[in-house]
Amino acid sequence: MFDAKARYVRSLFSKVPLEYDILLGLFSFAQDKRWRAYVVNRIRPVGRERILDVATGTGLLAADFARVVSRDGFVVGVDLTLSMLKTARWRLEARNVGDKVDWVLARAENLPFRNDCFGSSSISLALRNVSNAQLTFREMARATVPGGFVISLDFARPRNRLFRLFYYDYLLGLFPVFGRMVSEAWGRTLSYLGRSILRARTGEQIATLLSEEGLVDAVSVPLTAGIVCAVYGRKR
Ligand SMILES: C[S@@+](CC[C@H](N)C(=O)[O-])C[C@H]1O[C@@H](n2cnc3c(N)ncnc32)[C@H](O)[C@@H]1O
Repeated sequence: MFDAKARYVRSLFSKVPLEYDILLGLFSFAQDKRWRAYVVNRIRPVGRERILDVATGTGLLAADFARVVSRDGFVVGVDLTLSMLKTARWRLEARNVGDKVDWVLARAENLPFRNDCFGSSSISLALRNVSNAQLTFREMARATVPGGFVISLDFARPRNRLFRLFYYDYLLGLFPVFGRMVSEAWGRTLSYLGRSILRARTGEQIATLLSEEGLVDAVSVPLTAGIVCAVYGRKR
């Protein structure tokens, strides 16, 4: 079942997959690579591990996992937007890591996997977009083996007030204008992105959500002056 938010988010993302990787790099001043590297190093997939990447989009994080899993390991990327998944598939094939990843069209809140079948699971730059963050973590935790990580990387609100003023101007002012220079769809997507970041949960609130889903040692790590937070916990 698709609720109104899921339908809205899908309609936004269905029109932007081709330019997504380039614009994310551009607007984050290439920091996105660092953020993903942090997640991959934190999880450090080993051996025959299977990694689940929820709301995988164009598969940027899935690709980074695919490069580090061993020959027997693999990655599953889940998303509710078909055009994002199609772009992910051909991009990863072009980068020669396509055979390491399976793509599944599904909602984060209702993952079509058995219990305890992934070594770790991630969700990147997408917790704000899902309809139900708590249910998403519940599903990720369910599908993850005991001892595995559930990790979220997402935009947050920087703590430094001065920086925040400058950053909010960039997000709410310049961002949508740049977006409209690319296309109408990008204008809409970036204006949604700015608004959603202003409403984003803090890293601590996300850590609390993880703890409520039974994950232990949940911590929040701010990256790039707190523009994003990596928040993770382990399944008991
Ligand atoms: C900003 S993109 C992030 C993509 C990627 N994870 C990254 O780090 O670049 C957000 C993605 O979340 C997906 N998404 C949003 N809500 C979802 C949900 N409830 N279930 C699955 N995917 C969802 C969208 O389709 C979109 O591809």
